[in-house]
Amino acid sequence: MKGIVLAGGKATRLRPLTKVTSKQLLPVYNKPMIFYPLETLVKAGIEEILIIVAPEHAGHFMHLLGSGKDFGAKFSYAIQEEPRGLADAFIVGEDFIGEESVAMILGDNIFDHDFTKQIKSFEKGGMVFAKEVEDPERFGVVDFDDKMSVLSIEEKPTKPKSNYAVVGLYVYDNQVIQLAKNLKPSARGEIEITDLNNVFLQMKELKVNIIEGVWEDAGTFEGLLSISNIMAEKAKQTVS
Ligand code: DAU
Repeated sequence: MKGIVLAGGKATRLRPLTKVTSKQLLPVYNKPMIFYPLETLVKAGIEEILIIVAPEHAGHFMHLLGSGKDFGAKFSYAIQEEPRGLADAFIVGEDFIGEESVAMILGDNIFDHDFTKQIKSFEKGGMVFAKEVEDPERFGVVDFDDKMSVLSIEEKPTKPKSNYAVVGLYVYDNQVIQLAKNLKPSARGEIEITDLNNVFLQMKELKVNIIEGVWEDAGTFEGLLSISNIMAEKAKQTVS
């Protein structure tokens, strides 16, 4: 399985921190943010990773991350000219993905969870991960029955059908490239990952797994501070 880290976008929510640099290069405790999603993929056994970046900061990412040797992986880079949406990762990454399946992680999503077992169990279709949160309306929201069959998946609903947020790691088989190409842009002009997941749901090929470990979307000031504190605490406990 191939891996993609989506680390483009304009990060206007984090201005002025992101006026001269990329969000995914900002520090989270003692490491640049992007180290965390990269380490999550590598830990899950994914060794070939495409890093998708915005044109302004491409050189900085390459300087920081290089060939991937230090991570025990092989990195490639691609530029997303405009933030056309999360599902655009599979169009930008088409040649890289080739004939394989793909796990895509958002460059600002930080986990303390080992995905190895769940990723190894992947067979076909789409697989999303969910975590119970207090503010589901800020995220994609997935509703499912007691057999873990997905009932609905909605992007930032005003009246969420569950408290389960869809976290920023998605696993798909090779159909994803063609399905992403068929998506129509949403009202905000992006091709939405939630629309893509709905296509897999209509085909009865969308699975959901619950994760218990730490998850934070570091794309807000609160998220960035909170995850930095969590990682600092974890480092202290590892030392003592
Ligand atoms: O964090 C999980 C959430 O991520 C999910 O629950 C939502 O369903 C999903 O839509 C997404 O919501 P966000 O509002 O957090 O997405 P955002 O636009 O902030 O983009 C997430 C990351 O992807 C961010 O690091 C920037 C990057 N990005 C975004 C877009 C739209 C790109 O690299 N290119 C893009 O075109």
